[in-house]
Parts: sequence; structure tokens; C-alpha cells
Amino acid sequence: MNTKTDTLGDPILSAIFQRRAIKAFEPVQIPVLTRDLLLQSARQAPSSFNTQPYRLYWVESPAQRDAVAKLCLSQNPAQTASALVVAVADLGSLRRTAEMQSAWMRQSGFPASKIREYERTARIGRIIFMPGPLNLFGRLKEALFRTLHILMTIGMPPITRQDMLKWASKSTALACQNLMIAAEAVGLNTCPMEGFDGQRLARYLGLSQKCHEIVMVIAIGKKSPSYMAQPQWRRPIEATVTVL
Ligand SMILES: Cc1cc2nc3c(=O)[nH]c(=O)nc-3n(C[C@H](O)[C@H](O)[C@H](O)COP(=O)(O)O)c2cc1C
Repeated sequence: MNTKTDTLGDPILSAIFQRRAIKAFEPVQIPVLTRDLLLQSARQAPSSFNTQPYRLYWVESPAQRDAVAKLCLSQNPAQTASALVVAVADLGSLRRTAEMQSAWMRQSGFPASKIREYERTARIGRIIFMPGPLNLFGRLKEALFRTLHILMTIGMPPITRQDMLKWASKSTALACQNLMIAAEAVGLNTCPMEGFDGQRLARYLGLSQKCHEIVMVIAIGKKSPSYMAQPQWRRPIEATVTVL
């Protein structure tokens, strides 16, 4: 625990301040109910336009876990974890997500006008976001938005597929953080990792180069009793925060 911060006896703040990136785990089985709770917690995170543009691969079977741990460059947290979560930004899910959300709105009795409005916004969103073949549409969009920008205050939409993947990665990272805090709250520990062979791991999971990007892998387990974490360091608050 970071003793400099009073967490006011609040369990959520305690989980946030206790969390460390743990480098060695002891072997424990994560019960299915706990697994589901962690994954549900991840999904509770906010996402851009509520598109939830990610897929989380929970890898627990020993053979697959070993294979993924090797692709995480055999790092100790990966090799000793009870489970590994590969968090993937997923652009391939957008159309289906919109279909599922409008089906849910229909079942939930939303007025027809609201459903039409949602479907229209989702369609326009997809058009505005998509780069199109050879990024031709992306370039056209860029020219249009840059011109409009001279005249008014507007945000730039993603232009390239890389921009799109960056957009999806933000929501993915928030889901990852939720999952890590939830793990802490139920007495487990985690280590987020970006040390992995992205190409081989993507191939292993059958991901597409066009639609997917692995954002991080999270090792989950119970901290080994013999593991001694280094003291935690953070930059001075003035180096991180500007209050205006
Ligand atoms: C995006 C990201 C990637 C990381 N990659 C690795 C990694 O590959 N291996 C590792 O041991 N730790 C990794 N870490 C953990 C950081 O080193 C750790 O969070 C940082 O040193 C601060 O320590 P603390 O989380 O215990 O406060 C990563 C953390 C983040 C957020």
C-alpha cells in the first residue's frame, strides 16, 4: 500500500492503491465465478460510443497458457500466471455491435424513433470512421475536415486504419484497467505486459492484421509469497498534473 495516500477506508480506493505489477505468481486455480466477475468488470468500462471495440481472450488451459507465455517472451509473470488475458482492439466487431444494440433496443421497448436515430448515428459513425479501400475515403475525409476546421471548431475523425486501431485501443485499455482493479479487489494480482511477439501471438489467436491489434496481455494470479516488490515510485504530482 502506498502509505502516503489515505484511501479513507474505501475498498475501491484501496484496490487502486494496492495494485502493483506483480512479477511472480504462485499456482492457484481461478474459480469460474471469479473469472466471470473479472471479465464482467472489464466490460463495465466506458467505451467510445459504447462500441466496446475489443475482444478479451482468457487463456487458462495449461497448454495454451504455456504457448502464450512463450510468445510473451517467456517473461516470468506470464510463465507463472494462473491465466493470461490477451486484450485485442477489434475493428471487425463494429457492424455486428450496432446490430446487437438495435436488437436490444427493440426488445427493451425503446420507441421506434429512438431506434431509428441510433441506427442512423451508428451508420454515419461507421462511414465517418472507415478509411475505405487504399485509404482513399480516409484522405478525402481528411481534406474535408481540414477545410471545415479552418471555419469552425471540430474534432478530427480517424483517418487511417492505424488511427482507428488507436481509437479502439483507448477503450480496450480502460477495460484492462477495470479488470486489474477488480482482480485486486477479489484478492488476486496482475501484471500488464506489452512485451510480446505481436505477430506470432496474433497468428496463434487467428487474428486479422486488418481488424485487430493486441493492446496488452495481462498476467493474473496470486502473488508468490517469496516475491518482494520494489518500492513503488511515481513522478512528483506537479510533473503529472496541471490544475487550471
Ligand atoms: C502498457 C504496459 C505495458 C507493460 N509491459 C510490461 C511487461 O512487458 N513486463 C513487465 O514485467 N511489466 C510490464 N508493465 C508493468 C510496468 O512496468 C509497471 O506497471 C510499472 O513499472 C509501475 O509499477 P506498478 O504497476 O507496480 O506501480 C507494463 C505496464 C503497462 C501499463
